[in-house]
Amino acid sequence: MRKLTRREFLTRTGTLAGVAYPAMLSMGFLPAAPAHPFRLEGDGAGRQVLILGAGLAGMSAAYELGKLGYRCTILEARDRAGGRCFSVRKGSINIETGQPLHTANFDEGQYFNAGPSRIPHHHALTLHYCKELNVPIQIYNNVNEAAYYFSEGKGPLSNKKVRIREVRHDVRGWLCELLAKGMDGGRVDAQMSREDTQKIIEYLRAEGGLDIDKLYKASARRGYIEPPGAGEKTGRIADPYALSELLASGLMDPDFYNVAEYTYELQMTLFQAVGGMDRIAAALEKRLDGLIRYHSEVSSIHNTEQGVRVVYKDKTGEHSMDSDLCICTIPLPVLSNIDHNFSSDASRAIDSITYMQTGKIGLQFRRRFWEEDEHIYGGITHTNNQLTQIFYPSYDYLSGKGILIGYYNFNEKARVTGELSYQQREAFALEKGGLIHPQYPHEFETSFSVSWHKTKYTLGGWALYSADERQSLYKALLQPDKQVYFAGEHLTYLNAWMAGAFESARSVVASLHARVTGQTLSYPTGR
Ligand code: ALA
Repeated sequence: MRKLTRREFLTRTGTLAGVAYPAMLSMGFLPAAPAHPFRLEGDGAGRQVLILGAGLAGMSAAYELGKLGYRCTILEARDRAGGRCFSVRKGSINIETGQPLHTANFDEGQYFNAGPSRIPHHHALTLHYCKELNVPIQIYNNVNEAAYYFSEGKGPLSNKKVRIREVRHDVRGWLCELLAKGMDGGRVDAQMSREDTQKIIEYLRAEGGLDIDKLYKASARRGYIEPPGAGEKTGRIADPYALSELLASGLMDPDFYNVAEYTYELQMTLFQAVGGMDRIAAALEKRLDGLIRYHSEVSSIHNTEQGVRVVYKDKTGEHSMDSDLCICTIPLPVLSNIDHNFSSDASRAIDSITYMQTGKIGLQFRRRFWEEDEHIYGGITHTNNQLTQIFYPSYDYLSGKGILIGYYNFNEKARVTGELSYQQREAFALEKGGLIHPQYPHEFETSFSVSWHKTKYTLGGWALYSADERQSLYKALLQPDKQVYFAGEHLTYLNAWMAGAFESARSVVASLHARVTGQTLSYPTGR
């Protein structure tokens, strides 16, 4: 059959204006508009670029450079690509300092994201790559008022799981009542007009769910103790918690009730890759067929007169590789232990920038009791103990088994957890999580934990900077050190996000390409 030309197609489908566009898109007559174009002029003309690290930064740099005609080779220390973009499945392995090899024993089809697990809706470049690489995405339910707060050993609500919706609406109600009463008595702002005062009081009544006397009474906003139903079942609402109870139990402490959920990055809508975040890494890896050398551990990086010489070790022994240019995406705590001849400023930055201590554990249960028994579909339970958070999966709802993230912690709590053996971490997650979900001991099957600051070839969650360090250490690595460019989330203001890896890679590709082709380019380009 003769193929339709684009013009013929347009003529024939012209009467079907509403369907023509998607139809053309799917038949390949229209290029899918990239969400985030990156159009550079000029040709790399086969220049060699050696990339260190097959994480998202290294792979996306190779992918973009490949489009521009460069010849890239990636050295990757692990036997897998993706770096921190790591979804743990049956047979996945991880190596931590002082621990035996850790192998996941999850059932086939079960997984959890040990690294990135959520994509903010405004991370256009991450979403662009999902689209360009055909990685389907789905909603990640970050905020779920059906999940809990759990205050261990503190105050009248201690050791009792409290639904987030109860705390949120009680706190809001009580604070609105306080403010409304104060305004009514003229005690808040004497300068305010009567009319504005009344408007604000009306706002507070609606916002806090106050009655006509500006008093907070519990409402269905905070849920039911007996749900409404057929016939005479009106539903029953519990009394609110007293403000003093909420305060004394720490439920209004900023680091507990998770003010972080208000941040720009954690506001809904968030996304995840269907089937595991590592699908993004896998899609990039597929486009880089033959370019990645696995099990290749770099031991030295030296700028030479004309290029770069990198020494690495693989299963067959030690090798040295020369290249015109190099992009180094190795996380700084790892790079710090690699021999190099970088400038003193770069060297100081590499040795001094600190990384987050953080860890997660995936717990596989034979039954999704959090859904079946407790109506929790995705979202996060917050605790004041070392668990910090329990993440419920936002995928495979109502299926048989499931993996939840039994803890996701940071800083000192993560340091302490990281010191435990894998068995001890599991026991700790089960003990503390079992205080919230008594189903744990009956339903638990197997676990896998990752302590990122102890993980070989990573040694940290993500880069952390003070304002001063942004002006000194950070800037030292934004420029290439002779032939070596530095890339990764650590060289952005998007630390801890996949978008950081991608943005940094593009920025470095633009600057490297400008150098090779003698152009003046600045990133971002082409928007
Ligand atoms: N981006 C990291 C997270 O989503 C910090 O938890």
